Amino acid sequence: MGVFEDSIDVFLTPIAEFLRDETVSEILMNGPDQIWIERKGKLMRTEARFNSESALQAAMRNIAQSVGRKIDAENPTLDARLPDGSRIHVVIPPAARAGTTVAIRKFSKAEEVTLEKLVSFGSISADAAKFLQICVALGKNMIVSGGTGSGKTTLLNTLGRLIPSHERLLIVEDASELQVKADHVVCFETTAGNFERVGALTIRDLLRSAMRLRPDRIIVGEVRGPEAVDLIAVMNTGHGGSMGTTHANSPSDALVRLECLAMMSETPLPVTALRRQISSAVHLVIQAKRYSDGSRKISHISQTLGVDEHGNYRCQDLFRFVQKGKTAEGKVLGAMEPCGVLPTFMPEIEVNGYVFPRMKFARPAVPGAQTAAAAKPGAATPAAAAPATPPRSSSSGTGSGQGNAA
Ligand SMILES: Nc1ncnc2c1ncn2[C@@H]1O[C@H](COP(=O)(O)OP(=O)(O)O)[C@@H](O)[C@H]1O
Ligand SMILES: [Mg+2]
Repeated sequence: MGVFEDSIDVFLTPIAEFLRDETVSEILMNGPDQIWIERKGKLMRTEARFNSESALQAAMRNIAQSVGRKIDAENPTLDARLPDGSRIHVVIPPAARAGTTVAIRKFSKAEEVTLEKLVSFGSISADAAKFLQICVALGKNMIVSGGTGSGKTTLLNTLGRLIPSHERLLIVEDASELQVKADHVVCFETTAGNFERVGALTIRDLLRSAMRLRPDRIIVGEVRGPEAVDLIAVMNTGHGGSMGTTHANSPSDALVRLECLAMMSETPLPVTALRRQISSAVHLVIQAKRYSDGSRKISHISQTLGVDEHGNYRCQDLFRFVQKGKTAEGKVLGAMEPCGVLPTFMPEIEVNGYVFPRMKFARPAVPGAQTAAAAKPGAATPAAAAPATPPRSSSSGTGSGQGNAA
């Protein structure tokens, strides 16, 4: 291992300073001459360069070898981790037209992002943060949805740390990223197997094992394949408080995405059954978003309400980020606001003694002001207090298509 670490350092000399610099979160190489870095969410081009395409490829071959893989004409892409834990993805020519193309996602040194910090960054309101804390304590199943780099993993880490310490947590990931500090955590990471992929373990394999290892809750770092069906099964079989992230642009799209991924399994369920399972498995979808100023915020916290008569998922926003403008420097101005609807499980919050007044779900009297108008005390059903004003970006079945295809 030491030998590889030393030679990787030598091969990566042109970008060594960025690998060391903790303010750099990503390093992107588009061929040997174009190296970009990301700092505080902003990309900038650097002067750094590799001597030649073959020097860059040699570095990538060395990294592949260090994790028992190959990168060559037969294996033209590589997913791996550097010795410091940073994730790397590589595509070589001819697919990569401008030369070997590389993205390195730096492994952040476990800077603990607490809910309080997210509130101070302006990523979430204090009330919504408190609400999420209660939802974790109540064992609600949650999906964190968002684009690449929107802050999904960071948020999942934050939520994971709120899990009561007496519970046994199993974490399954493709490449280990989550750093959930709790008393009883077991972490699994997929393995590539040998050169022929013999002995490889997928997320599905690991999830099946996880379910047999007496979990209280299971977290799947990123759901991007047929393991969606297993996570849904986990959520529906009494492992309340399970969580995962997925790539989608809105809460209802996240459910559609889970459905599409679940359909990839060898023995897919009939679509009507699948939809019913997904909508009962997932209680909340939390949408993460990267804004134009590089900030990451939670744009929606939505509850799922089942499937409508056309087979579309029904999502109802409980909290939503409302943008009010932009400063001259481009900073996004706005605030997270409640949407005037009570969660369906409000009685559960109250009966368990959590202090979260119903008023906190009331919409501001003047949109934009943070003072709450009178909440409808009896509005326990979403229909009774559904907000009438747009945008209702996440409600109801974007793109889930028609009902039963069968
Ligand atoms: N709320 C936030 N405020 C500011 N930066 C954030 C926030 N959440 C995440 N980040 C930063 O954004 C980058 C991407 O975050 P990450 O959680 O890995 O995104 P994803 O899992 O969606 O790809 C990281 O550098 C992380 O430190
Ligand atoms: Mg992530």
